[in-house]
Amino acid sequence: MKHISLTQYLVVKQREKGLIPAELRLLIEVVARACKRIGHSISKGALADVLGEAGTDNIQGESQKKLDVIANETLLEANEWGGSLAAMASEEMDEPHLIPTEYPRGEFLLLFDPLDGSSNIDVNVSVGTIFSVLRMPDGDAEASESSFLQSGERQVAAGYAVYGPSTQLVLTVGDGVASFTLDRETGAWLLTQERMTIPADTKEFAINASNMRHWEPPVKRYVDEMLAGKTGPLGKDYNMRWVASMVADVHRIMTRGGIFMYPRDAREPNKPGKLRLMYEANPMSFLIEQAGGASTNGLQRIMTVQPTQLHERVAVFLGSKNEVERVTRYHAS
Ligand code: AHG
Ligand code: MN
Ligand code: MN
Repeated sequence: MKHISLTQYLVVKQREKGLIPAELRLLIEVVARACKRIGHSISKGALADVLGEAGTDNIQGESQKKLDVIANETLLEANEWGGSLAAMASEEMDEPHLIPTEYPRGEFLLLFDPLDGSSNIDVNVSVGTIFSVLRMPDGDAEASESSFLQSGERQVAAGYAVYGPSTQLVLTVGDGVASFTLDRETGAWLLTQERMTIPADTKEFAINASNMRHWEPPVKRYVDEMLAGKTGPLGKDYNMRWVASMVADVHRIMTRGGIFMYPRDAREPNKPGKLRLMYEANPMSFLIEQAGGASTNGLQRIMTVQPTQLHERVAVFLGSKNEVERVTRYHAS
């Protein structure tokens, strides 16, 4: 079977459909190239001495793994000189990184979680990279943190790479979701699924159940009802999965449906959840909605949340539409 390449796919979006400008196409290709390099480092593991702790903390107070730092640097280096970007922001950097003055500056902003699922690196379980692209707001001469504070609805592209048994890139430019598989022999990203769609119904849920005692009542109610199975109010038996890499959990849902939840909880009452809005929840929400699923924070579509801080957190309920709508209804009542 002949597969078209990521480049060809994007050229069609640019040339025939007029959906994306050339600079955005180039930007996505550079991100994809960086993901290839990150995947390469990950697959070498202990042979390249990339496992274990970096010995530093990020702004969230989480200890950084060597690969968090390597992946962040790989994305920065790859994207600095291309001319499409005004600035980048990352889970691993306190402040936005402006494009150095020796390079041309462009009109886009790139956000990323360079290495998602850090706790899985050292145990050889799937991890990923998540990215989101915004446009510089009109009138901002120089990018600053406030340039990034746009709702998810303003994203022009989003995607993730999953470094698993095969390396895949899942991408949206606002015209459905396509998936590409890395051909390790030729180094090409080849289109292996043109339109990913999420079934509206599911029997599979993903949540870290060790936090059950800290959940809010609507989440407790919903999970109790699922656990009650066929004879309970939902009338079916559910299965549970939790990889603890958002990318891997979302990828399973993109592939066969399901609901993923990381609710706010009483462990840290001042924080609205664990996951970060701008470089985890927003890009994943864009992909999920483009694939026909839904994504809320329990109260509203995540993509309509107006961010006030680069690293702010948000509760996440995403995946198969009917289930996300159910748990969102439970929050309202
Ligand atoms: P990161 O490795 O980028 O910090 O993200 C980890 C996130 C997400 O990938 C995953 O869904 C969640 O944390 C796992 O949380 P638990 O440790 O509570 O299972
Ligand atoms: Mn993450
Ligand atoms: Mn991360």
